[in-house]
Amino acid sequence: MPIKRPPINSPSFFIGKGDGNDLISFGSGQPDLPPPNQIFKILPKFKDFKYGLIQGQLRLREELAKQYPRSNPNQFLITNGASEAITLVFRFLANKGKRVLLPRPYYYSYPHNAKYANLDVNYYDLVNGKIDLDNFKKNMVGCCAVMINSPSNPTGSIQEIPVLREIEKITQEQGMYIVSDEVYKDLIYERENYFFKGSHVITINSFSKTFAMCGLRVGYLYSTDQEVLDTCITYKTHLSMNTNILGQEMAYAALKAPKSYTQKQVAIWKKRRNLIYQGLVDLGLDLQKPEGAFYVFPKFENSSRVVNDLFYDYRMITYDGTWFGSPGRVRFSYALDVSKIKEGLRRLEAYMKKRGLR
Ligand SMILES: Cc1ncc(COP(=O)(O)O)c(C=O)c1O
Repeated sequence: MPIKRPPINSPSFFIGKGDGNDLISFGSGQPDLPPPNQIFKILPKFKDFKYGLIQGQLRLREELAKQYPRSNPNQFLITNGASEAITLVFRFLANKGKRVLLPRPYYYSYPHNAKYANLDVNYYDLVNGKIDLDNFKKNMVGCCAVMINSPSNPTGSIQEIPVLREIEKITQEQGMYIVSDEVYKDLIYERENYFFKGSHVITINSFSKTFAMCGLRVGYLYSTDQEVLDTCITYKTHLSMNTNILGQEMAYAALKAPKSYTQKQVAIWKKRRNLIYQGLVDLGLDLQKPEGAFYVFPKFENSSRVVNDLFYDYRMITYDGTWFGSPGRVRFSYALDVSKIKEGLRRLEAYMKKRGLR
């Protein structure tokens, strides 16, 4: 009997599938590195399983406020991952206009959330991972908000600071919001992150990537605009109520980790970035060198076939560029051990040889 091969046409086919059993996952963007030690100390003592504040536990917001210049704890809303923050913000934006500007390629949840919020979408196409300001300005016309994701999922590129400053200025002048998804802000290899400033800025962040706490589902949004906070708190009350209370305690503990925790992680990502980038270049693939996050995004003709073949015939998980608005590319997350990256590259080489792709 032929083995069933249901077509793989969405990331949900893979999310939560771990590796092991000879499966190598270049799939979901979840760090394999451990979270800070501090978070495990919470567990034996934790007893408070009651509902928490919708806005999030005060001491976590106080701790976050220390990281954002001139901010205060009331300007933060703790969410179930950055994912919930994105949902809430798009719903908020639907009160402000009819259309938002998104990058392309994009993090796959953005267009879905825009659609669920009844928002239409314009795109600015990244050129070799970078924003083309002329194209950006042309496409922002008629939008109430622009979305920035630097470092980017799926390209791993970061945007140039003068470009970000210009966007900060023109959006302010035109009364548009900037939604800045900065979940990879601590995973930049080249420079420090650039923080957008202004009353029109909504910053989204998460504990998933920096602190390797994806499954605990803790993220947040930060804004100095009281209307953004009030509206999103109301929506969250009726969407999920408080964010996972134990996760928030752990997030609070994670913020106490020394700076060296992140520095050590970034050094590891950088080594892996170099390894996989060179490996893919050696296979003759066309790709950019990531400057942040943990993704490479090489070109492949018929990316859907590649993703299906690699999974069913080579036991490798990869993500189809089509899911990110970029068919003809395949995303590899290199959030996995060096030995697995090497083995994955060997399998990819075997596949490419078999199909005459190299
Ligand atoms: C750009 C981007 N934004 C948001 C998220 C969602 O993160 P969270 O786990 O905090 O919901 C991800 C996860 O991969 C992401 O890559």
